[in-house]
Amino acid sequence: MLSKKPRKEFLTFFEKRGHQIVASSSLIPTDTTVLFTTAGMQQFKEYFLGKRSPFSNKVASCQKCFRTSDIGEVGDERHLTFLEMLGNFSFGDYFKEGAVKYALDFLVQELGLEKEKIWITVFKGEGRVPEDKESKRIWQSLGIPKERIFGFDRKDNFWGPTGLEGPCGPSTEIHYDLTSQPCQKGTNCIPNCDCNRFIELWNLVFNEYYQNREGQLTPLKQRGVDTGMGLERLAMVCQNKKSVYETDLFFPIMVEIPGKDERAKRVIADHIKSAVFLASEDILPSNVEQGYILRRILRRAIRYGKILNLPKNFLIPLAQKVIEIYRDIYPEVQFRQADILTVIQNEEEKFSKTLEKGLKQFEKISARGDISGVDAFHLYDTYGFPLELTEELARERGLKTNKKGFQEAFEKHQEISRAGVEKKFGGIGKETSPEAIRLHTATHLLHQALREVLGLHVKQMGSDITSERLRFDFSHPKQMTEEEIKKVENLVNQKIKEDLEIKKEEMPHKEAIKKGALAFFKEKYPEKVTVYSINNFSKEICAGPHVQRTLELGFFNIVKEESSGAGVRRIRATLIPPPKADKL
Ligand code: ALA
Repeated sequence: MLSKKPRKEFLTFFEKRGHQIVASSSLIPTDTTVLFTTAGMQQFKEYFLGKRSPFSNKVASCQKCFRTSDIGEVGDERHLTFLEMLGNFSFGDYFKEGAVKYALDFLVQELGLEKEKIWITVFKGEGRVPEDKESKRIWQSLGIPKERIFGFDRKDNFWGPTGLEGPCGPSTEIHYDLTSQPCQKGTNCIPNCDCNRFIELWNLVFNEYYQNREGQLTPLKQRGVDTGMGLERLAMVCQNKKSVYETDLFFPIMVEIPGKDERAKRVIADHIKSAVFLASEDILPSNVEQGYILRRILRRAIRYGKILNLPKNFLIPLAQKVIEIYRDIYPEVQFRQADILTVIQNEEEKFSKTLEKGLKQFEKISARGDISGVDAFHLYDTYGFPLELTEELARERGLKTNKKGFQEAFEKHQEISRAGVEKKFGGIGKETSPEAIRLHTATHLLHQALREVLGLHVKQMGSDITSERLRFDFSHPKQMTEEEIKKVENLVNQKIKEDLEIKKEEMPHKEAIKKGALAFFKEKYPEKVTVYSINNFSKEICAGPHVQRTLELGFFNIVKEESSGAGVRRIRATLIPPPKADKL
C-alpha cells in the first residue's frame, strides 16, 4: 500500500463524517512565538480558544510539520525532523467518545490494522489535572481490554501548548504492537518501552485547558479535540516495514546514498527532505531564526556526507528525489525547484570549503579536553560550524561544550562589530550630501520593490551610498532576470511619480516590529527607534536622513545586478535628477 492511500483515505474518512478538509498551512506559522509549524493544530490554535473558525467546527488535514526536538534520534527506525501529520480536529463539537471511536474505526475498519495489536495509553493524573478515566472506559467499551490500557504522567500523556501559551490537555495514545514479542522486561514491556516492539501511532489530545505564559492552567470554556498521526509511521505499519526509511516516502532517497553506515544515510535522507521543504518556503540559510535552522540541518547533512565520503554536490540529486516524491502533493516543491536547488548548492559549496579545515581545527582543540566557549565560537565564526555541530562532535568524543561561554563570546563579538554595523545599516553614515540623501530614500523604495517582485525572503544584507550611486546587497538565491530587473525599476519609478510623503516617527522597537517595520538586527536596537514610512509602501527602522517627498528623487536607474556571495545579490543604481523647476 503506497503512502498515497492512507493519506487520501484519512481525509476521505473524515470528510464522510462531516469534517471540512483544510489544506496544509505553511511551515512558518503566523504565531510568532514559534519558529515552525510542529503540529497539525498550529493553524487552528485560536479556534480552540473560542475564536470563530472560518471553517466548520470539525476539520481534518494533512499538515507539513518540521521539528528539531527529536533531531538527536533521527537515524533510528522512526524519528524525523520533517513529517506529514494527519489530524482531525473538533472545536467545541465532538469530544472523547467521538475522537476515540473515529480513530479505532479508521485504523481497523478502513485500513485493516489488527485490533489485537492496538495498545493504549491514557493520562493517569498529575497535579490538579485528574486521571482520564473516561477515555479508559470508552476504549474498553469499544473492545480494547484493560490489560492493554496503561496510565502515564504528564511527560507522555499531556500535550501542548505550542509556543508560549495556548490550548492543551490530557491525551490518549494509540500504540501498535509490531512484533508481539516482549523484550527482556517481560510483562513490563508495554507502550513507551524503549525496545522497538511498539510504535506510537496516533495522539488524541483533549484540549480542556489554557496554559498561560507562567505555566498556569485554567479550564477552557469550550472543549476540543486535536489529533495527530505521523503519515510516515502509518506507512511503515501499513507497508510492513521495520523503519520509516524503508517506506516509499524515503526509499527512493535512500537508494541514492551509497555507503554502509545506515544511520548516516538516514540522517542525510531526513535532513535533505527537511531542507527542500524549508527552502520551498523561501527560507534562506542564515545565522538567525528559521534561516539558522535550515543552515544547521544542511551543514549537519554535509558533515554526514563527508563521513560517507560522498562526492561534491551530493545533496542535489537527493533533493531532486525529494521533489519527485512530493511534487503531486505539495506543488510548491516543484514550482520552486530551481530556487531550492540553488540554495542547497550554494550552502554546500560554502560549507565544503571550510568543513575540512574546521574538522582539523576541532581535532586540535578537542585533544586538549572539553571545548571552551571561545573555541566553539572560533569554530562558528571562522569555519561556519553551528554550535550544535560542535556539541555533537564533542559528544561523540565524550567531551562537553561550554554553551554559555559560546554565548558570551558571541555577544562580545556582536558588541564590537555593532558600531560598524549601525553605520552600515542604520543610516547613510558620513555621506549626507543632498544626492546621498536622495539615494538613501531610493534605497528604501528599492528594498520594498524587490520584496514585492521577488518575494518576502528578500532582506537587506548591506548598503553603501555615495553621492553618485547606491549599492544594495540583499538575500536572494539566484540571478535576477531582465524582466524582474525592469519590474523593480518600474515599481520604484512609479512610487517616485506618485509623489509620496516620507514620514518619520519615533516609537519603541517592539511597536515598530509589530507595525511591520523592516529591521536588520533584531535584538541590537536601542529601546526607542526611528521609523521611516513611505506612504503605506515601505516602512523601515532607520536613522535617516531622507527627503520629504519621493518626487524629489528624479528617475531611478538600475545599472547592474550581480552576485555578492552565496545567496546574496547586489544592485548598483543611480538617480537622474528631476529637471529644475525653472526649466519646466
Ligand atoms: N498536537 C498533537 C501532536 O502533535 C496531536 O502530537
